[in-house]
Amino acid sequence: MKFIYVYIFQFVILFSTHSQTKISDILSDIPSHVEKRIEAIINDNNFSGVFYSGDVEYISSELDMSLYQVMELLRPLSRIYAKAPISNYMVGALCSGSSGNLYFGSNIEILGESLSFTLHAEQSAVVNAWSHGETNINFINVGGSPCGYCLQFLNELNHADSLIIINPQGKNYTISDLLTFPFGPKNLGIDGGLMSKNNNNLILENDSRERLVLAALNAANMSYAPYSKGYSGIAVMTEDGNIFQGYYAENAAFNPSISPIEFVLSSLNLSGKSFNQIKKVVLVEKRSSKSSQINTVKAVLNKIVPNVKLNVVYCHKVE
Ligand code: THU
Ligand code: ZN
Repeated sequence: MKFIYVYIFQFVILFSTHSQTKISDILSDIPSHVEKRIEAIINDNNFSGVFYSGDVEYISSELDMSLYQVMELLRPLSRIYAKAPISNYMVGALCSGSSGNLYFGSNIEILGESLSFTLHAEQSAVVNAWSHGETNINFINVGGSPCGYCLQFLNELNHADSLIIINPQGKNYTISDLLTFPFGPKNLGIDGGLMSKNNNNLILENDSRERLVLAALNAANMSYAPYSKGYSGIAVMTEDGNIFQGYYAENAAFNPSISPIEFVLSSLNLSGKSFNQIKKVVLVEKRSSKSSQINTVKAVLNKIVPNVKLNVVYCHKVE
């Protein structure tokens, strides 16, 4: 028994010093009081992948750095969160909301599943901002140009025209600089609107007071599904009783759409939780949607937490 305690103790020490070395290695060039402040923010139990505007201003003024420079300083820290068991290619991104907050994003791959389940770091940063109530992002930084798939994803934003893509090597870009002949919502007769404030007016088929069900309904009400109208949302409870939400987010080119399960895994991950802490999952969606999330969610859960059963709850739209 004693050996087990010693082993656990050593593991905790090893693990904590390991992750701390990483942060201080990345920030080795900045004064130690600022480095300590940044480490404290990230190691806080309530950290959810956000640097709030007050902290951003503090870092910027202490280091005499522009917002772009702060975003480049923090980008390698969001990369630490990447989960890329298939490619081992870790990507970190950062975006800034109109509130002045900065949001981490990191790529996620599901071992054993189709590559289509991959969430890119840029997508993760955008849904992180959205889940924290932002309706507009001004800047995104992934160290250069996002890939074609991400440009297509970003082109769905309600403010795609004004988004600035930071290029730490030189002149910044807009989406239209890099996506010269875009395909977007307008091609399908939709006025683009990912991240717009919306309520889909969904109500449950059978009333419920269960917190997790109501959180999933709320997520479905936040979802963006102008093409299939298959509004859906997910809520996950972790073993410590915390609840995380995932909204479904469609894209005009369909494939870069984000399933609610990918969204919620990203939120969990950026909050420092591991996937095996998931204890309960509720998916709310419209019955007989042209596009359903049920099989996708089950496939992902089967790979990460095979013992957790999916609870599907149906809703309908009040017209
Ligand atoms: N990836 C990103 O996260 N962003 C990009 O713009 C390029 C690619 C990720 C996706 C996948 O997890 C891994 O990098 C290899 O493509
Ligand atoms: Zn990409």
